[in-house]
Amino acid sequence: PIIYVVTPTYARPHQRAELTRLSQTLLLVPSLHWILVEDSVERTAAVTELLAQSDLLYTHLNVQTPPAMKLKDSDPNWLKPRGVEQRNEALRWLREHRAPGDRGVVYFADDDNTYSVKIFQEMRHTQKVSVWPVGLVGGLKYEAPLVDNGKVAGFHTTWKTHRPFPIDMAGFAVSLSLLLTHPKAKFDPDAERGFLESSLLSQLVTVRELEPRADNCTKVWVWHTRTEKPKLKQEDLLEKQGRGSNPKILV
Ligand code: UGA
Ligand code: MN
Repeated sequence: PIIYVVTPTYARPHQRAELTRLSQTLLLVPSLHWILVEDSVERTAAVTELLAQSDLLYTHLNVQTPPAMKLKDSDPNWLKPRGVEQRNEALRWLREHRAPGDRGVVYFADDDNTYSVKIFQEMRHTQKVSVWPVGLVGGLKYEAPLVDNGKVAGFHTTWKTHRPFPIDMAGFAVSLSLLLTHPKAKFDPDAERGFLESSLLSQLVTVRELEPRADNCTKVWVWHTRTEKPKLKQEDLLEKQGRGSNPKILV
């Protein structure tokens, strides 16, 4: 099966640094197709160039988050869900370009997390939905499904424990065929904070059907890392004097 990695991404000073790190992790994974979806009106030169020289098999899409749903610079980042329209656009693309019988698995990989190549090995043979721990998330060292007799029997989490699937986006993968046989299943842009993952998974599986991976969910092979915002005070000062860094140099 091919692993389809779906990544929403948006323009910011460190975007190409994030995408370089992620793309070079993905290079280590055989039989992989990267679906990169920009949160933008048009596909940008910065991302187009990065993909073109990446050596990956990829599809480059874009869709803008409606302005009313978009975070402002001054908003705390949890105020609105992020990457929703972009992930749904990738689901639309897969349904249009792939047919029942095509073997694949879909993983929603944000551009700022840290991925071990091991997690891709774990997800490749997914029947319906496979799950595993995610490090540094939910205010814990890790969140993880609790496994009893090979089945998910609960979850190690303290945040909104009433969530139907208390699993971060980085903690599950879905088989392509399940997405194709449930053509309406998608992420709900109006989902309450923390319920985005559940909004998709509830349409596809029950908790008992989840397939635990990573040694019965005892290994952390993906981390919900977040990147510090770069400080560009000097750049702003120089720009005001008309002496900013060369705009032709992609950063
Ligand atoms: C957490 C989860 O890990 C995300 O999968 C989930 O989408 C998010 O919360 C949420 O509640 O919406 P977090 O680190 O807080 O993640 O979110 P970001 O990493 O800032 O954004 C998730 C993805 O969406 C990233 O790939 C990012 O590049 C993209 N994004 C973010 C956009 O496409 N547009 C934006 O305006 C912001
Ligand atoms: Mn993130």
